Amino acid sequence: MYVFDRVAVSLDGRQVFRDGQAQPIGARAFDILELLIRSAGKLVTKDEIMRLVWPTTFVVENNIQVHISALRKLFGDGWIRTVPGRGYQLRTPSQMTAPHAPSQELAAAKAVAGVITQRSWPLVGRDDDANTLYEMLQRGSLVTVSGPGGVGKTRLALSVARAWADSNHFQVCHVDFAGHSTQHSCLLAVLEKLGGAAGSNAPTIADVVQTVGDRQIVLVFDNCERVLQAVASLCECIAASNGHAVILTTSREPLRAMGERVHSISPLTLPEENAGEAETLASGAISMFFEHARASGIRFPADPGTLNVIADICRRLGGLPLAIELAVARAALLGVQGLLRELEKSILWLSGGLRTAHPRQKTLRATVEWSYALLSEPECAVLRRLAVFPRTFNLAGACDVISCADIGRDAALTSVLSLAKKSLLTLHTEGPVKSYSLLPVERAYAIERLMESGEWPCFRSRYVSSKDNAPANFAS
Ligand SMILES: Nc1ncnc2c1ncn2[C@@H]1O[C@H](COP(=O)(O)OP(=O)(O)OP(=O)(O)O)[C@@H](O)[C@H]1O
Ligand SMILES: [Mg+2]
Repeated sequence: MYVFDRVAVSLDGRQVFRDGQAQPIGARAFDILELLIRSAGKLVTKDEIMRLVWPTTFVVENNIQVHISALRKLFGDGWIRTVPGRGYQLRTPSQMTAPHAPSQELAAAKAVAGVITQRSWPLVGRDDDANTLYEMLQRGSLVTVSGPGGVGKTRLALSVARAWADSNHFQVCHVDFAGHSTQHSCLLAVLEKLGGAAGSNAPTIADVVQTVGDRQIVLVFDNCERVLQAVASLCECIAASNGHAVILTTSREPLRAMGERVHSISPLTLPEENAGEAETLASGAISMFFEHARASGIRFPADPGTLNVIADICRRLGGLPLAIELAVARAALLGVQGLLRELEKSILWLSGGLRTAHPRQKTLRATVEWSYALLSEPECAVLRRLAVFPRTFNLAGACDVISCADIGRDAALTSVLSLAKKSLLTLHTEGPVKSYSLLPVERAYAIERLMESGEWPCFRSRYVSSKDNAPANFAS
């Protein structure tokens, strides 16, 4: 419960009380109020309000003012300040009485504001993943969301962390490790977010554990693939010392830490080739394309011809959310037909998403390179060679094709399994049969690298002859 003198707000119950009496409040006004509260006294811009509260509709500014003046009536003078031309600020509550909520966690409130920014576009096609993840948080204290680059790990983790924390009256602290490469800088980043201080110049895990204390907190350790060792040790120590804390990590590769539960996510669903209009529109990838276009103010006609082209674009991108986001931005300039023609040549050039995105997410090439840079030399060579498989392959068949004098069969097998763990290969399980494939974006990159190395003709012809000899090993 957040108390502002005579007014008390329960975010969980979506209720507002004045002098102890429940007050009527509309859903939109409450959404705006929630946004203001979670921003912990910071300015909330009109754009942020529009994106959060009306993500898919066009809203005139007057509409916001109507809700703000209703909130002002409720709160009384002096609580909600207008910053002319920019937005609004709500003073911090005089008291926070969330059950078990630790007293003054302003740093955590700041992190919650970060989560809200992430929520500004709707999360599409992830209901099942979100439910599974939510349940995993109920049961375990360390959960990792893993999956390929740009698949939506961060987006999903932040949404679920926020929902889970709200219902359990926990705080959320989000630390992004994408820009970090040492244990030292990771620990500093966590301490900074938690509002703690290092005991000496060199922060230790013990400093972080002490700062976390016995808070009821959800720690979202995001984008961990470059600092797996450091984060694994940190998570184990926090989990051992604080029985309440919940740690949700995202990484292209699981941490392999004690007690870790892993939830792997795949790209969004795609429509079958011969799907009807309703089925096409209902698939995750196509829904995201349209939601994103709407939110960005871009209109595409919804005739069957355009829909088919959009479905082809999403298939070519393998349903990868980051790729769809970039594709929408490009389709606005090239038209969907023009975009499809460009994608037929290559998909790696796609770029132009969020101005604030990390450099690894600015182009599809950069997103694969981020993973490629973390591979050993044999893993790089094996990934390149796997590009000769247009669809799925099984382990035995693949190892026959890609092993050579430089990489023996056992080494090839080890590398293929390691690539799968690092989310560079997709695992398909049908009954007892397991097969693998490369996502389109990874295959496009691997083809380029294989051509560059001069090995394409050799491995391509090995693939063709092995396919003729043992067709069961490969999908046609
Ligand atoms: N289900 C979704 N609905 C709408 N947008 C999504 C969805 N999933 C991801 N996105 C958008 O796609 C982009 C990439 O998502 P995100 O950053 O979560 O991917 P990631 O898997 O964490 O990538 P990385 O491995 O690079 O960290 C983001 O801009 C995000 O908002
Ligand atoms: Mg991420």
